[in-house]
Amino acid sequence: MRPMVPADVSECVRIHLACFPQSFLSSLGSGFLKTYYEGVARSDQAISIVCESNDQLIGFVVGFTDPRKCYLYLLRTRSLRFCLTSLAAVAPNPIIVPRLLRALTYPSSTPSGNERVLLSSIAVLPLFRRQGVGTSLVKGFLMEAAARGGSGVYLGVKRDDSKSITFYRNLEFCETHEIANPGNGDSILMARALLPVGAGGGQQVQVFPPPGQDIHHRDKFGEALD
Ligand SMILES: CC(C)(COP(=O)(O)OP(=O)(O)OC[C@H]1O[C@@H](n2cnc3c(N)ncnc32)[C@H](O)[C@@H]1OP(=O)(O)O)[C@@H](O)C(=O)NCCC(=O)NCCS
Repeated sequence: MRPMVPADVSECVRIHLACFPQSFLSSLGSGFLKTYYEGVARSDQAISIVCESNDQLIGFVVGFTDPRKCYLYLLRTRSLRFCLTSLAAVAPNPIIVPRLLRALTYPSSTPSGNERVLLSSIAVLPLFRRQGVGTSLVKGFLMEAAARGGSGVYLGVKRDDSKSITFYRNLEFCETHEIANPGNGDSILMARALLPVGAGGGQQVQVFPPPGQDIHHRDKFGEALD
């Protein structure tokens, strides 16, 4: 395992398309995904780790120490390219424009600050699943999130995706909120605390305020870019 670098982007796009064939981002095409992952690989706010086997990328995990800052960085540096690369998908299907705009304004609905780290997406090529690769990627992500001062990691998963929910439960993530997402499948927010590096002693850190006190990001979390 190692950090993602810009030279990995084409492979990451291929893995994304293979692992999320039905996702909204995939429907925007490989050019859009390339723009996105290039930005991720270059952003200081992103944690992006790839897993290699025999010189081939077989999986990756991506997330953000400060989701809002990172998405603003992506928009600031790549808005035009996002628009141009999504044109082919948008032109024949303009009905997706509102969803695209929501995705592009996603930063305004995510928590800011690097305490709560967002695990945005993880993917392992089908041939290499159930061999512990996904688990290793998440563990690497948790270590990096803690090293960067995070106190907790959260993620969104579709409510009916029982396989992924089991996967995350095994990694000690707990369901914290349900997120209604009409028309796009309801989601669940899962989270787990991180031990701050050097804190020791099994100290648990609360990742989220109790339900009802943090409506800010809950409304739109289901629009996460997966
Ligand atoms: C989710 C994903 C990353 C898991 O990667 P992986 O390398 O297969 O995961 P691991 O081998 O580390 O699995 C660890 C445990 O999670 C659970 N798990 C993983 N995949 C599972 C599945 N398809 N069905 C049931 N349990 C599963 C099992 O308990 C597994 O342990 P076991 O194999 O000893 O039974 C992979 O299936 C994937 O890329 N899926 C497509 C993309 C996706 O859905 N990403 C998550 C979106 S939120």
